[in-house]
Order: sequence, then structure tokens, then C-alpha cells
Amino acid sequence: MTRRKLVAGNWKMHGVARDLGEITRISMASETLSDIDVALCVPATLLERAVDAAPGFAIGGQDVHAEPRGAFTGSISAAMLVDAGARLVIVGHSERREAFAEENAMVAAKAAAALGEGLDVIVCCGESLAVREAGSALETVGRQIVESLPEAADPQTLSIAYEPIWAIGTGKVAGPSEITAMHAHLRGELGKARGELFAGATKILYGGSVKGENAGEILHLADVDGALVGGASLTADQFIPIMNAAVR
Ligand code: PGA
Repeated sequence: MTRRKLVAGNWKMHGVARDLGEITRISMASETLSDIDVALCVPATLLERAVDAAPGFAIGGQDVHAEPRGAFTGSISAAMLVDAGARLVIVGHSERREAFAEENAMVAAKAAAALGEGLDVIVCCGESLAVREAGSALETVGRQIVESLPEAADPQTLSIAYEPIWAIGTGKVAGPSEITAMHAHLRGELGKARGELFAGATKILYGGSVKGENAGEILHLADVDGALVGGASLTADQFIPIMNAAVR
């Protein structure tokens, strides 16, 4: 099964008006790469302007509330993301799981809400250093992803990002054997939970200190279908080489 690669940037809490030019440059470069998909997930405050700065390019959010509306101060619904022009959203990033106590069931509910509004979804998973050192990374992340998948998951609209927490923003990258072992394990768990067709069609991205220098190796490992990129997605100069590396 050939899966089209997806290179998605996660701007986290970065990005104001003066950064819109980077989005334009990234979107223009992506137009020349017809074999892969590229997206940028920006702060909610920048969504509409990012869409305007990059017509036709996939702009996304970084989180969504599971409920459609209500008294949830500071939160954003899936319909609001769509209204602002978003085409996708990240759910269950480890920074939200840790800082906002988001459990698997909540992540699945958020993903369901987003899919219900027609957004594509990237569901994140990944283990802490303590879990890796205890030897239970495969089991922990496998359970995390199966429990974080919504009922209505469809490989056309839902992707998974494996991001070891100890590799995020640290400059430490998981080794090729750690990445391929985890991605193969996750595909196996998806197969058991949702069937082989689902598992074979679902994109599994790697995230954690992906840069231009290491992207070529990571993006062509077995079972790696793209990258979720934090720091190196903030400028076109750093992100475009990662996009290029995804193209064989
Ligand atoms: P990083 O972040 O590329 O800066 O390590 C990745 C992520 O958290 O999605």
C-alpha cells in the first residue's frame, strides 16, 4: 500500500502578523511538490490571516474542544476552526496531554468532533523518557493510540503522529531502529483494533526534532509516512528542506 507522505508544521505558541510571509513562502514551495501533502498548524489567532496569506494551502489548528459550543472559556470548537478556514487540526499533542491533563478518551472525543465538522485530524502519541527507560514504550504508546482513536476514524482524514516526548524540542532524535520498531508496532496495533485495511492505509508520521539535516533519513524509514515538525517549521528556510526531503 503506498501512502502519500504528509509533512505538517506545528507552530505551537509562535506566530504573529510579521510571520505570515513565511507561510506564503512555504505554501508556494509546496505547490511544486505534487507528490506530498504539506500543512501548517498555526495559533488560532493567526488562522484566518494564514489562510489569506496562502490561498489553497492547508492551514490547521493545534487543538479543538470536543463540544460544539458552550461555556468553555478560551476554547475553540471544530466549527469555529472550519469557519476560520482551517482544514485540519492536531489533537492529543503531548504538551496538551501533560499540561492540560488530556486523557485518551478526551483526545478521541476531540478527534470525533473535528472529523464530524469535516476537518482532517492528526492524533499524537508518544512516551516519556521514564516509560522508554522502563522498557514499556511499545506497549504504552500502542494502548495510547488505540484508545485515542474515535469510532469514525478513516485513514483518508485521520493520521497518527508518533512523537517521543524526550525528542520534542530537545534536539534528540529517536534512532532509526527505535522509530521503525514503534511505527511497525503501531501499525500492528491498528490492524488488531481496526483491521488490516485500516492499518495499511493510515499514515503514521514521526515527530521530535525533525530538521533539514535528519529529515532525509527519517522520512524514508519503513512505515514512516511523514513528519510533524515543531521548531523547524517556523521559517521557510528551515521547513522547505524537510518538505523536499519527503519527495523521493
Ligand atoms: P520539535 O516539535 O520538532 O520542535 O521537536 C515537534 C512537535 O512537538 O510536534
